[in-house]
Amino acid sequence: MKTIMWATLTANGNYAQSGPENPPKPEALGDFAAQAQAAGNFIVGRKTFEGMRGNGGPGPFADLDIVVVSKSASAIPGVTVVGSPREALSYLERRGHQAALIGGGADIHNSFLSEGLVDEVIFNVAPVLEGKGLNLLIDQESYRYRHVELLDCKPLGGGVVQLRYAVQDRH
Ligand SMILES: NC(=O)c1ccc[n+]([C@@H]2O[C@H](COP(=O)([O-])OP(=O)(O)OC[C@H]3O[C@@H](n4cnc5c(N)ncnc54)[C@H](OP(=O)(O)O)[C@@H]3O)[C@@H](O)[C@H]2O)c1
Repeated sequence: MKTIMWATLTANGNYAQSGPENPPKPEALGDFAAQAQAAGNFIVGRKTFEGMRGNGGPGPFADLDIVVVSKSASAIPGVTVVGSPREALSYLERRGHQAALIGGGADIHNSFLSEGLVDEVIFNVAPVLEGKGLNLLIDQESYRYRHVELLDCKPLGGGVVQLRYAVQDRH
């Protein structure tokens, strides 16, 4: 099963954070919905999931396999809760998915990256600059690097540019 990390970056390279004053671009949200539909699933951290869920309705993703990663949450209706990134992938593999889409947030993305569990990354670069922010890191403790291969690059509209990379030598 291929693992695809999906993330929005700011134009100055931060891991984009959204909020009332900086809502996500509709083009980026639309792309996430399309990628999730194509995969049939997405994996999300407990905090991002709570932000997405809003007042508790099923939302536009009701027909997808949604996997919430959490050490603390037990059961959440309508989704599958697992205790680690590897458990999320094992669950989706057992369900017969060909690809897993890793939707965020920062903690989850960095967990998958540092455990070497990502085959492909999709970065949507949004036309915004941020101050002090979040970063994506393949290692929290030391300096190292990993080569990636550019697979595709295209504008999505609204000033958003999509970069797609293959990550070599996944662990
Ligand atoms: N740029 C983007 O594409 C993008 C996408 C989504 C969200 N965001 C932004 O990201 C921010 C939210 O991210 P966040 O880092 O605060 O939260 P998050 O990654 O959504 O969720 C963090 C929670 O996930 C669980 N978790 C994380 N790593 C784990 C691991 N290795 N094993 C088990 N559980 C694990 C823990 O849940 P428990 O505490 O329950 O144990 C942790 O508190 C917001 O600012 C949002 O706007 C950006």
